[in-house]
Amino acid sequence: MRNSGGWILGTLLFLGGFFFVHVAASSPRSHRQLAQDAVEIKMVKNGVVLDNKLVQLTFSNPGGDVIGIRYAGIDNLLAINNKEGDRGYWDVVWNYPGEAKNTQYRLQGTQFKVITERPDQVEVSFITTYNANSGVTAPVNVDRRYIMQQGRSGFYTYAIFERLEGWPGGDMETVRVAYKLHQAKFRYMALSDTRQRFMPTADDRARGRPLAFKEAVLLNNETSSPGLEGEVDDKYQYSAEDKDIKVHGWISIDDQSPPVGFWMITPSDEFRIGGPFKQDLTSHVGPTSLTVFAAHHYVGKDVGLTFQEGEVWKKVFGPVFIYLNSAARNTADSPSTIRTLWNNAKDQMLEEVKSWPYNFISSPDFPSSDQRGSVSGQLLVHDRYIESLPRTSFAYVGLAAPGEVGSWQRESKGYQFWTQTDEKGYFLIENIRPGNYNLYASVPGIVGDYKYEVDITIEPGSKIQLASITYKPPRTGPTLWEIGIPDRTAAEFYIPDPYPTLTNKLYKGSRLDKFRQYGLWARYYERYPNNDLIYRVGANNYTEDWFYAQVTRSVGNGRHVGTTWQIQFELKNVVNPGNYTLQLALASATYAELQVRVNNLNAKPPLFSTGLIGDDNAIARLGIHGLYRLWSIDVPSTLLREGSNTIYLTQSRDGYSPFQGVMYDYIRLEGPSEKP
Ligand SMILES: *[C@@H]1O[C@H](CO)[C@@H](O)[C@H](O)[C@H]1NC(C)=O
Ligand SMILES: *[C@@H]1O[C@H](CO)[C@@H](O)[C@H](O)[C@H]1NC(C)=O
Ligand SMILES: *[C@@H]1O[C@H](CO)[C@@H](O)[C@H](O)[C@H]1NC(C)=O
Repeated sequence: MRNSGGWILGTLLFLGGFFFVHVAASSPRSHRQLAQDAVEIKMVKNGVVLDNKLVQLTFSNPGGDVIGIRYAGIDNLLAINNKEGDRGYWDVVWNYPGEAKNTQYRLQGTQFKVITERPDQVEVSFITTYNANSGVTAPVNVDRRYIMQQGRSGFYTYAIFERLEGWPGGDMETVRVAYKLHQAKFRYMALSDTRQRFMPTADDRARGRPLAFKEAVLLNNETSSPGLEGEVDDKYQYSAEDKDIKVHGWISIDDQSPPVGFWMITPSDEFRIGGPFKQDLTSHVGPTSLTVFAAHHYVGKDVGLTFQEGEVWKKVFGPVFIYLNSAARNTADSPSTIRTLWNNAKDQMLEEVKSWPYNFISSPDFPSSDQRGSVSGQLLVHDRYIESLPRTSFAYVGLAAPGEVGSWQRESKGYQFWTQTDEKGYFLIENIRPGNYNLYASVPGIVGDYKYEVDITIEPGSKIQLASITYKPPRTGPTLWEIGIPDRTAAEFYIPDPYPTLTNKLYKGSRLDKFRQYGLWARYYERYPNNDLIYRVGANNYTEDWFYAQVTRSVGNGRHVGTTWQIQFELKNVVNPGNYTLQLALASATYAELQVRVNNLNAKPPLFSTGLIGDDNAIARLGIHGLYRLWSIDVPSTLLREGSNTIYLTQSRDGYSPFQGVMYDYIRLEGPSEKP
């Protein structure tokens, strides 16, 4: 058995009376050189079967749920104990305008169609039509597609969402694909090279004790495998930024069948909402594997797919690739088998990324590469108070729907195309769908958001070359002091150790992922039992002395009150008259109001207030950031004095939640401009 490109991961299986050799190779092209079986469609009672002799997929008909995935001798990789509609599905969480209650709707087709039927490829469609009388279907038509190819151990899915004229408004909070896998088999989850382990089971969770945030559970000592007792499990501990969600999934490794991996591969971020830093769920206990196309998580309602009455809209979510691989049974060395399957899944992800945009999609709503365009250029930063040449290396540059500076964080109806610059700030954004866009950028280490002033129109084949463009970040005068790094997250601040009784061992000893531990917010009351945080510029160090979140303080009976933090600093002299500026960037806000006062805690009104902001819930959902916000606040010199000064930062909203509050990204006090 030869394989031209990659290495071979072969299993000889005896199945149903015939032999076949399954090769999960790093190069899909090499598959096609082998003698292969055509893809077949079979109509069965209440169902449709797609079969390429590597994978056999069974759908309900015309519902379009994936009810069976037969692979590597395993009859069904999915949760066989679940109802058929609770195994592999697309769903939408939505409501009509003003409705308090959300409806969770698993898309059910009313019509099945074969779109393409060739030996090398089959594409099928399940159509869901808006039915105003049903009470459950969102005001949207959905055409769900599945593609199976010859010689590929997996399948693609995508969906075309469309709203027509005259329909009522509505808000789609969530759009996602979910696969619930065989509970007894898929026990090992992999999200990245470091984020992977054997996981608790859904039963372990059911026996555990729910914690303060409903998705978090403390496992008790009746767990399915030793060593899990006393750990916290929370699906939000497995979130990631969309730019990093490219492959994740589960491995089955047991004595009954060959080791098998089930992987969600997302080759492009163009159809997900809210830009590259938006965080979403990946895989979690169930075992469940998701592709989240849209969700309020870590941003809030602002990023919702909210439609006015009569608003016409169309968007293609996907395609994503559900990839299956297997290895020779070698339970004696399961770490090496796991590594083999994970590495192969990563290789397959790179193959999919390289093949993007796919040229085998039948829908005219999915443009192929020759119908797309590109934009290239160089991004520079000019800040007259930063002496060393500001680096724009690895800045994020992207196209999104026209809007305000930073509006892409809340944008969900269109497509976004992001890339990173090289070390000199050069960038090339390829494979952009035709349309009108603005070009935006975010530069790690530089405060604020960039927007290029000219609108950009992409037509099929456009190759737009911009001259070098320059970002002039907000700046009025020289830096007097600064706290943190302007990078849209609170990751550089003090993140406490988790409670020994509330840890997830996946992140034990990890500095990078420490913020994903449960219950860290409550460490604030221990560290500051009586008085709130005071930060002394020059004496303190934000890595150790600036708590990662300004949370509320528990005062009993579930009541939580706001807190006031102080920044104390010295000024040798005050330029009077003169305008000082406080650059204040938040990484997250949840039902919070941040008020700023200078040298007078009782000033009414405060010098500045954000008003009530935020529902990104990043504290509760264990993210280190949510939505990014920046204010440049004028501080008149009359408020300042020679010697000691204090800035009071008050989170003024009280409530009943420990999760209310803000996370800071960066704070800088600037002196008056030295130039008139
Ligand atoms: C399990 O926990 C209970 C309650 O904490 C304890 O009484 C019991 O001894 C534990 N059992 C084992 C096997 O550790
Ligand atoms: C602040 O603390 C961190 C962590 O202890 C340390 O690495 C860093 O050097 C300190 N910075 C300064 C300016 O002392
Ligand atoms: C300070 O800012 C105010 C308002 O922007 C402006 O009217 C005033 O001239 C400024 N003062 C100085 C000294 O720059």
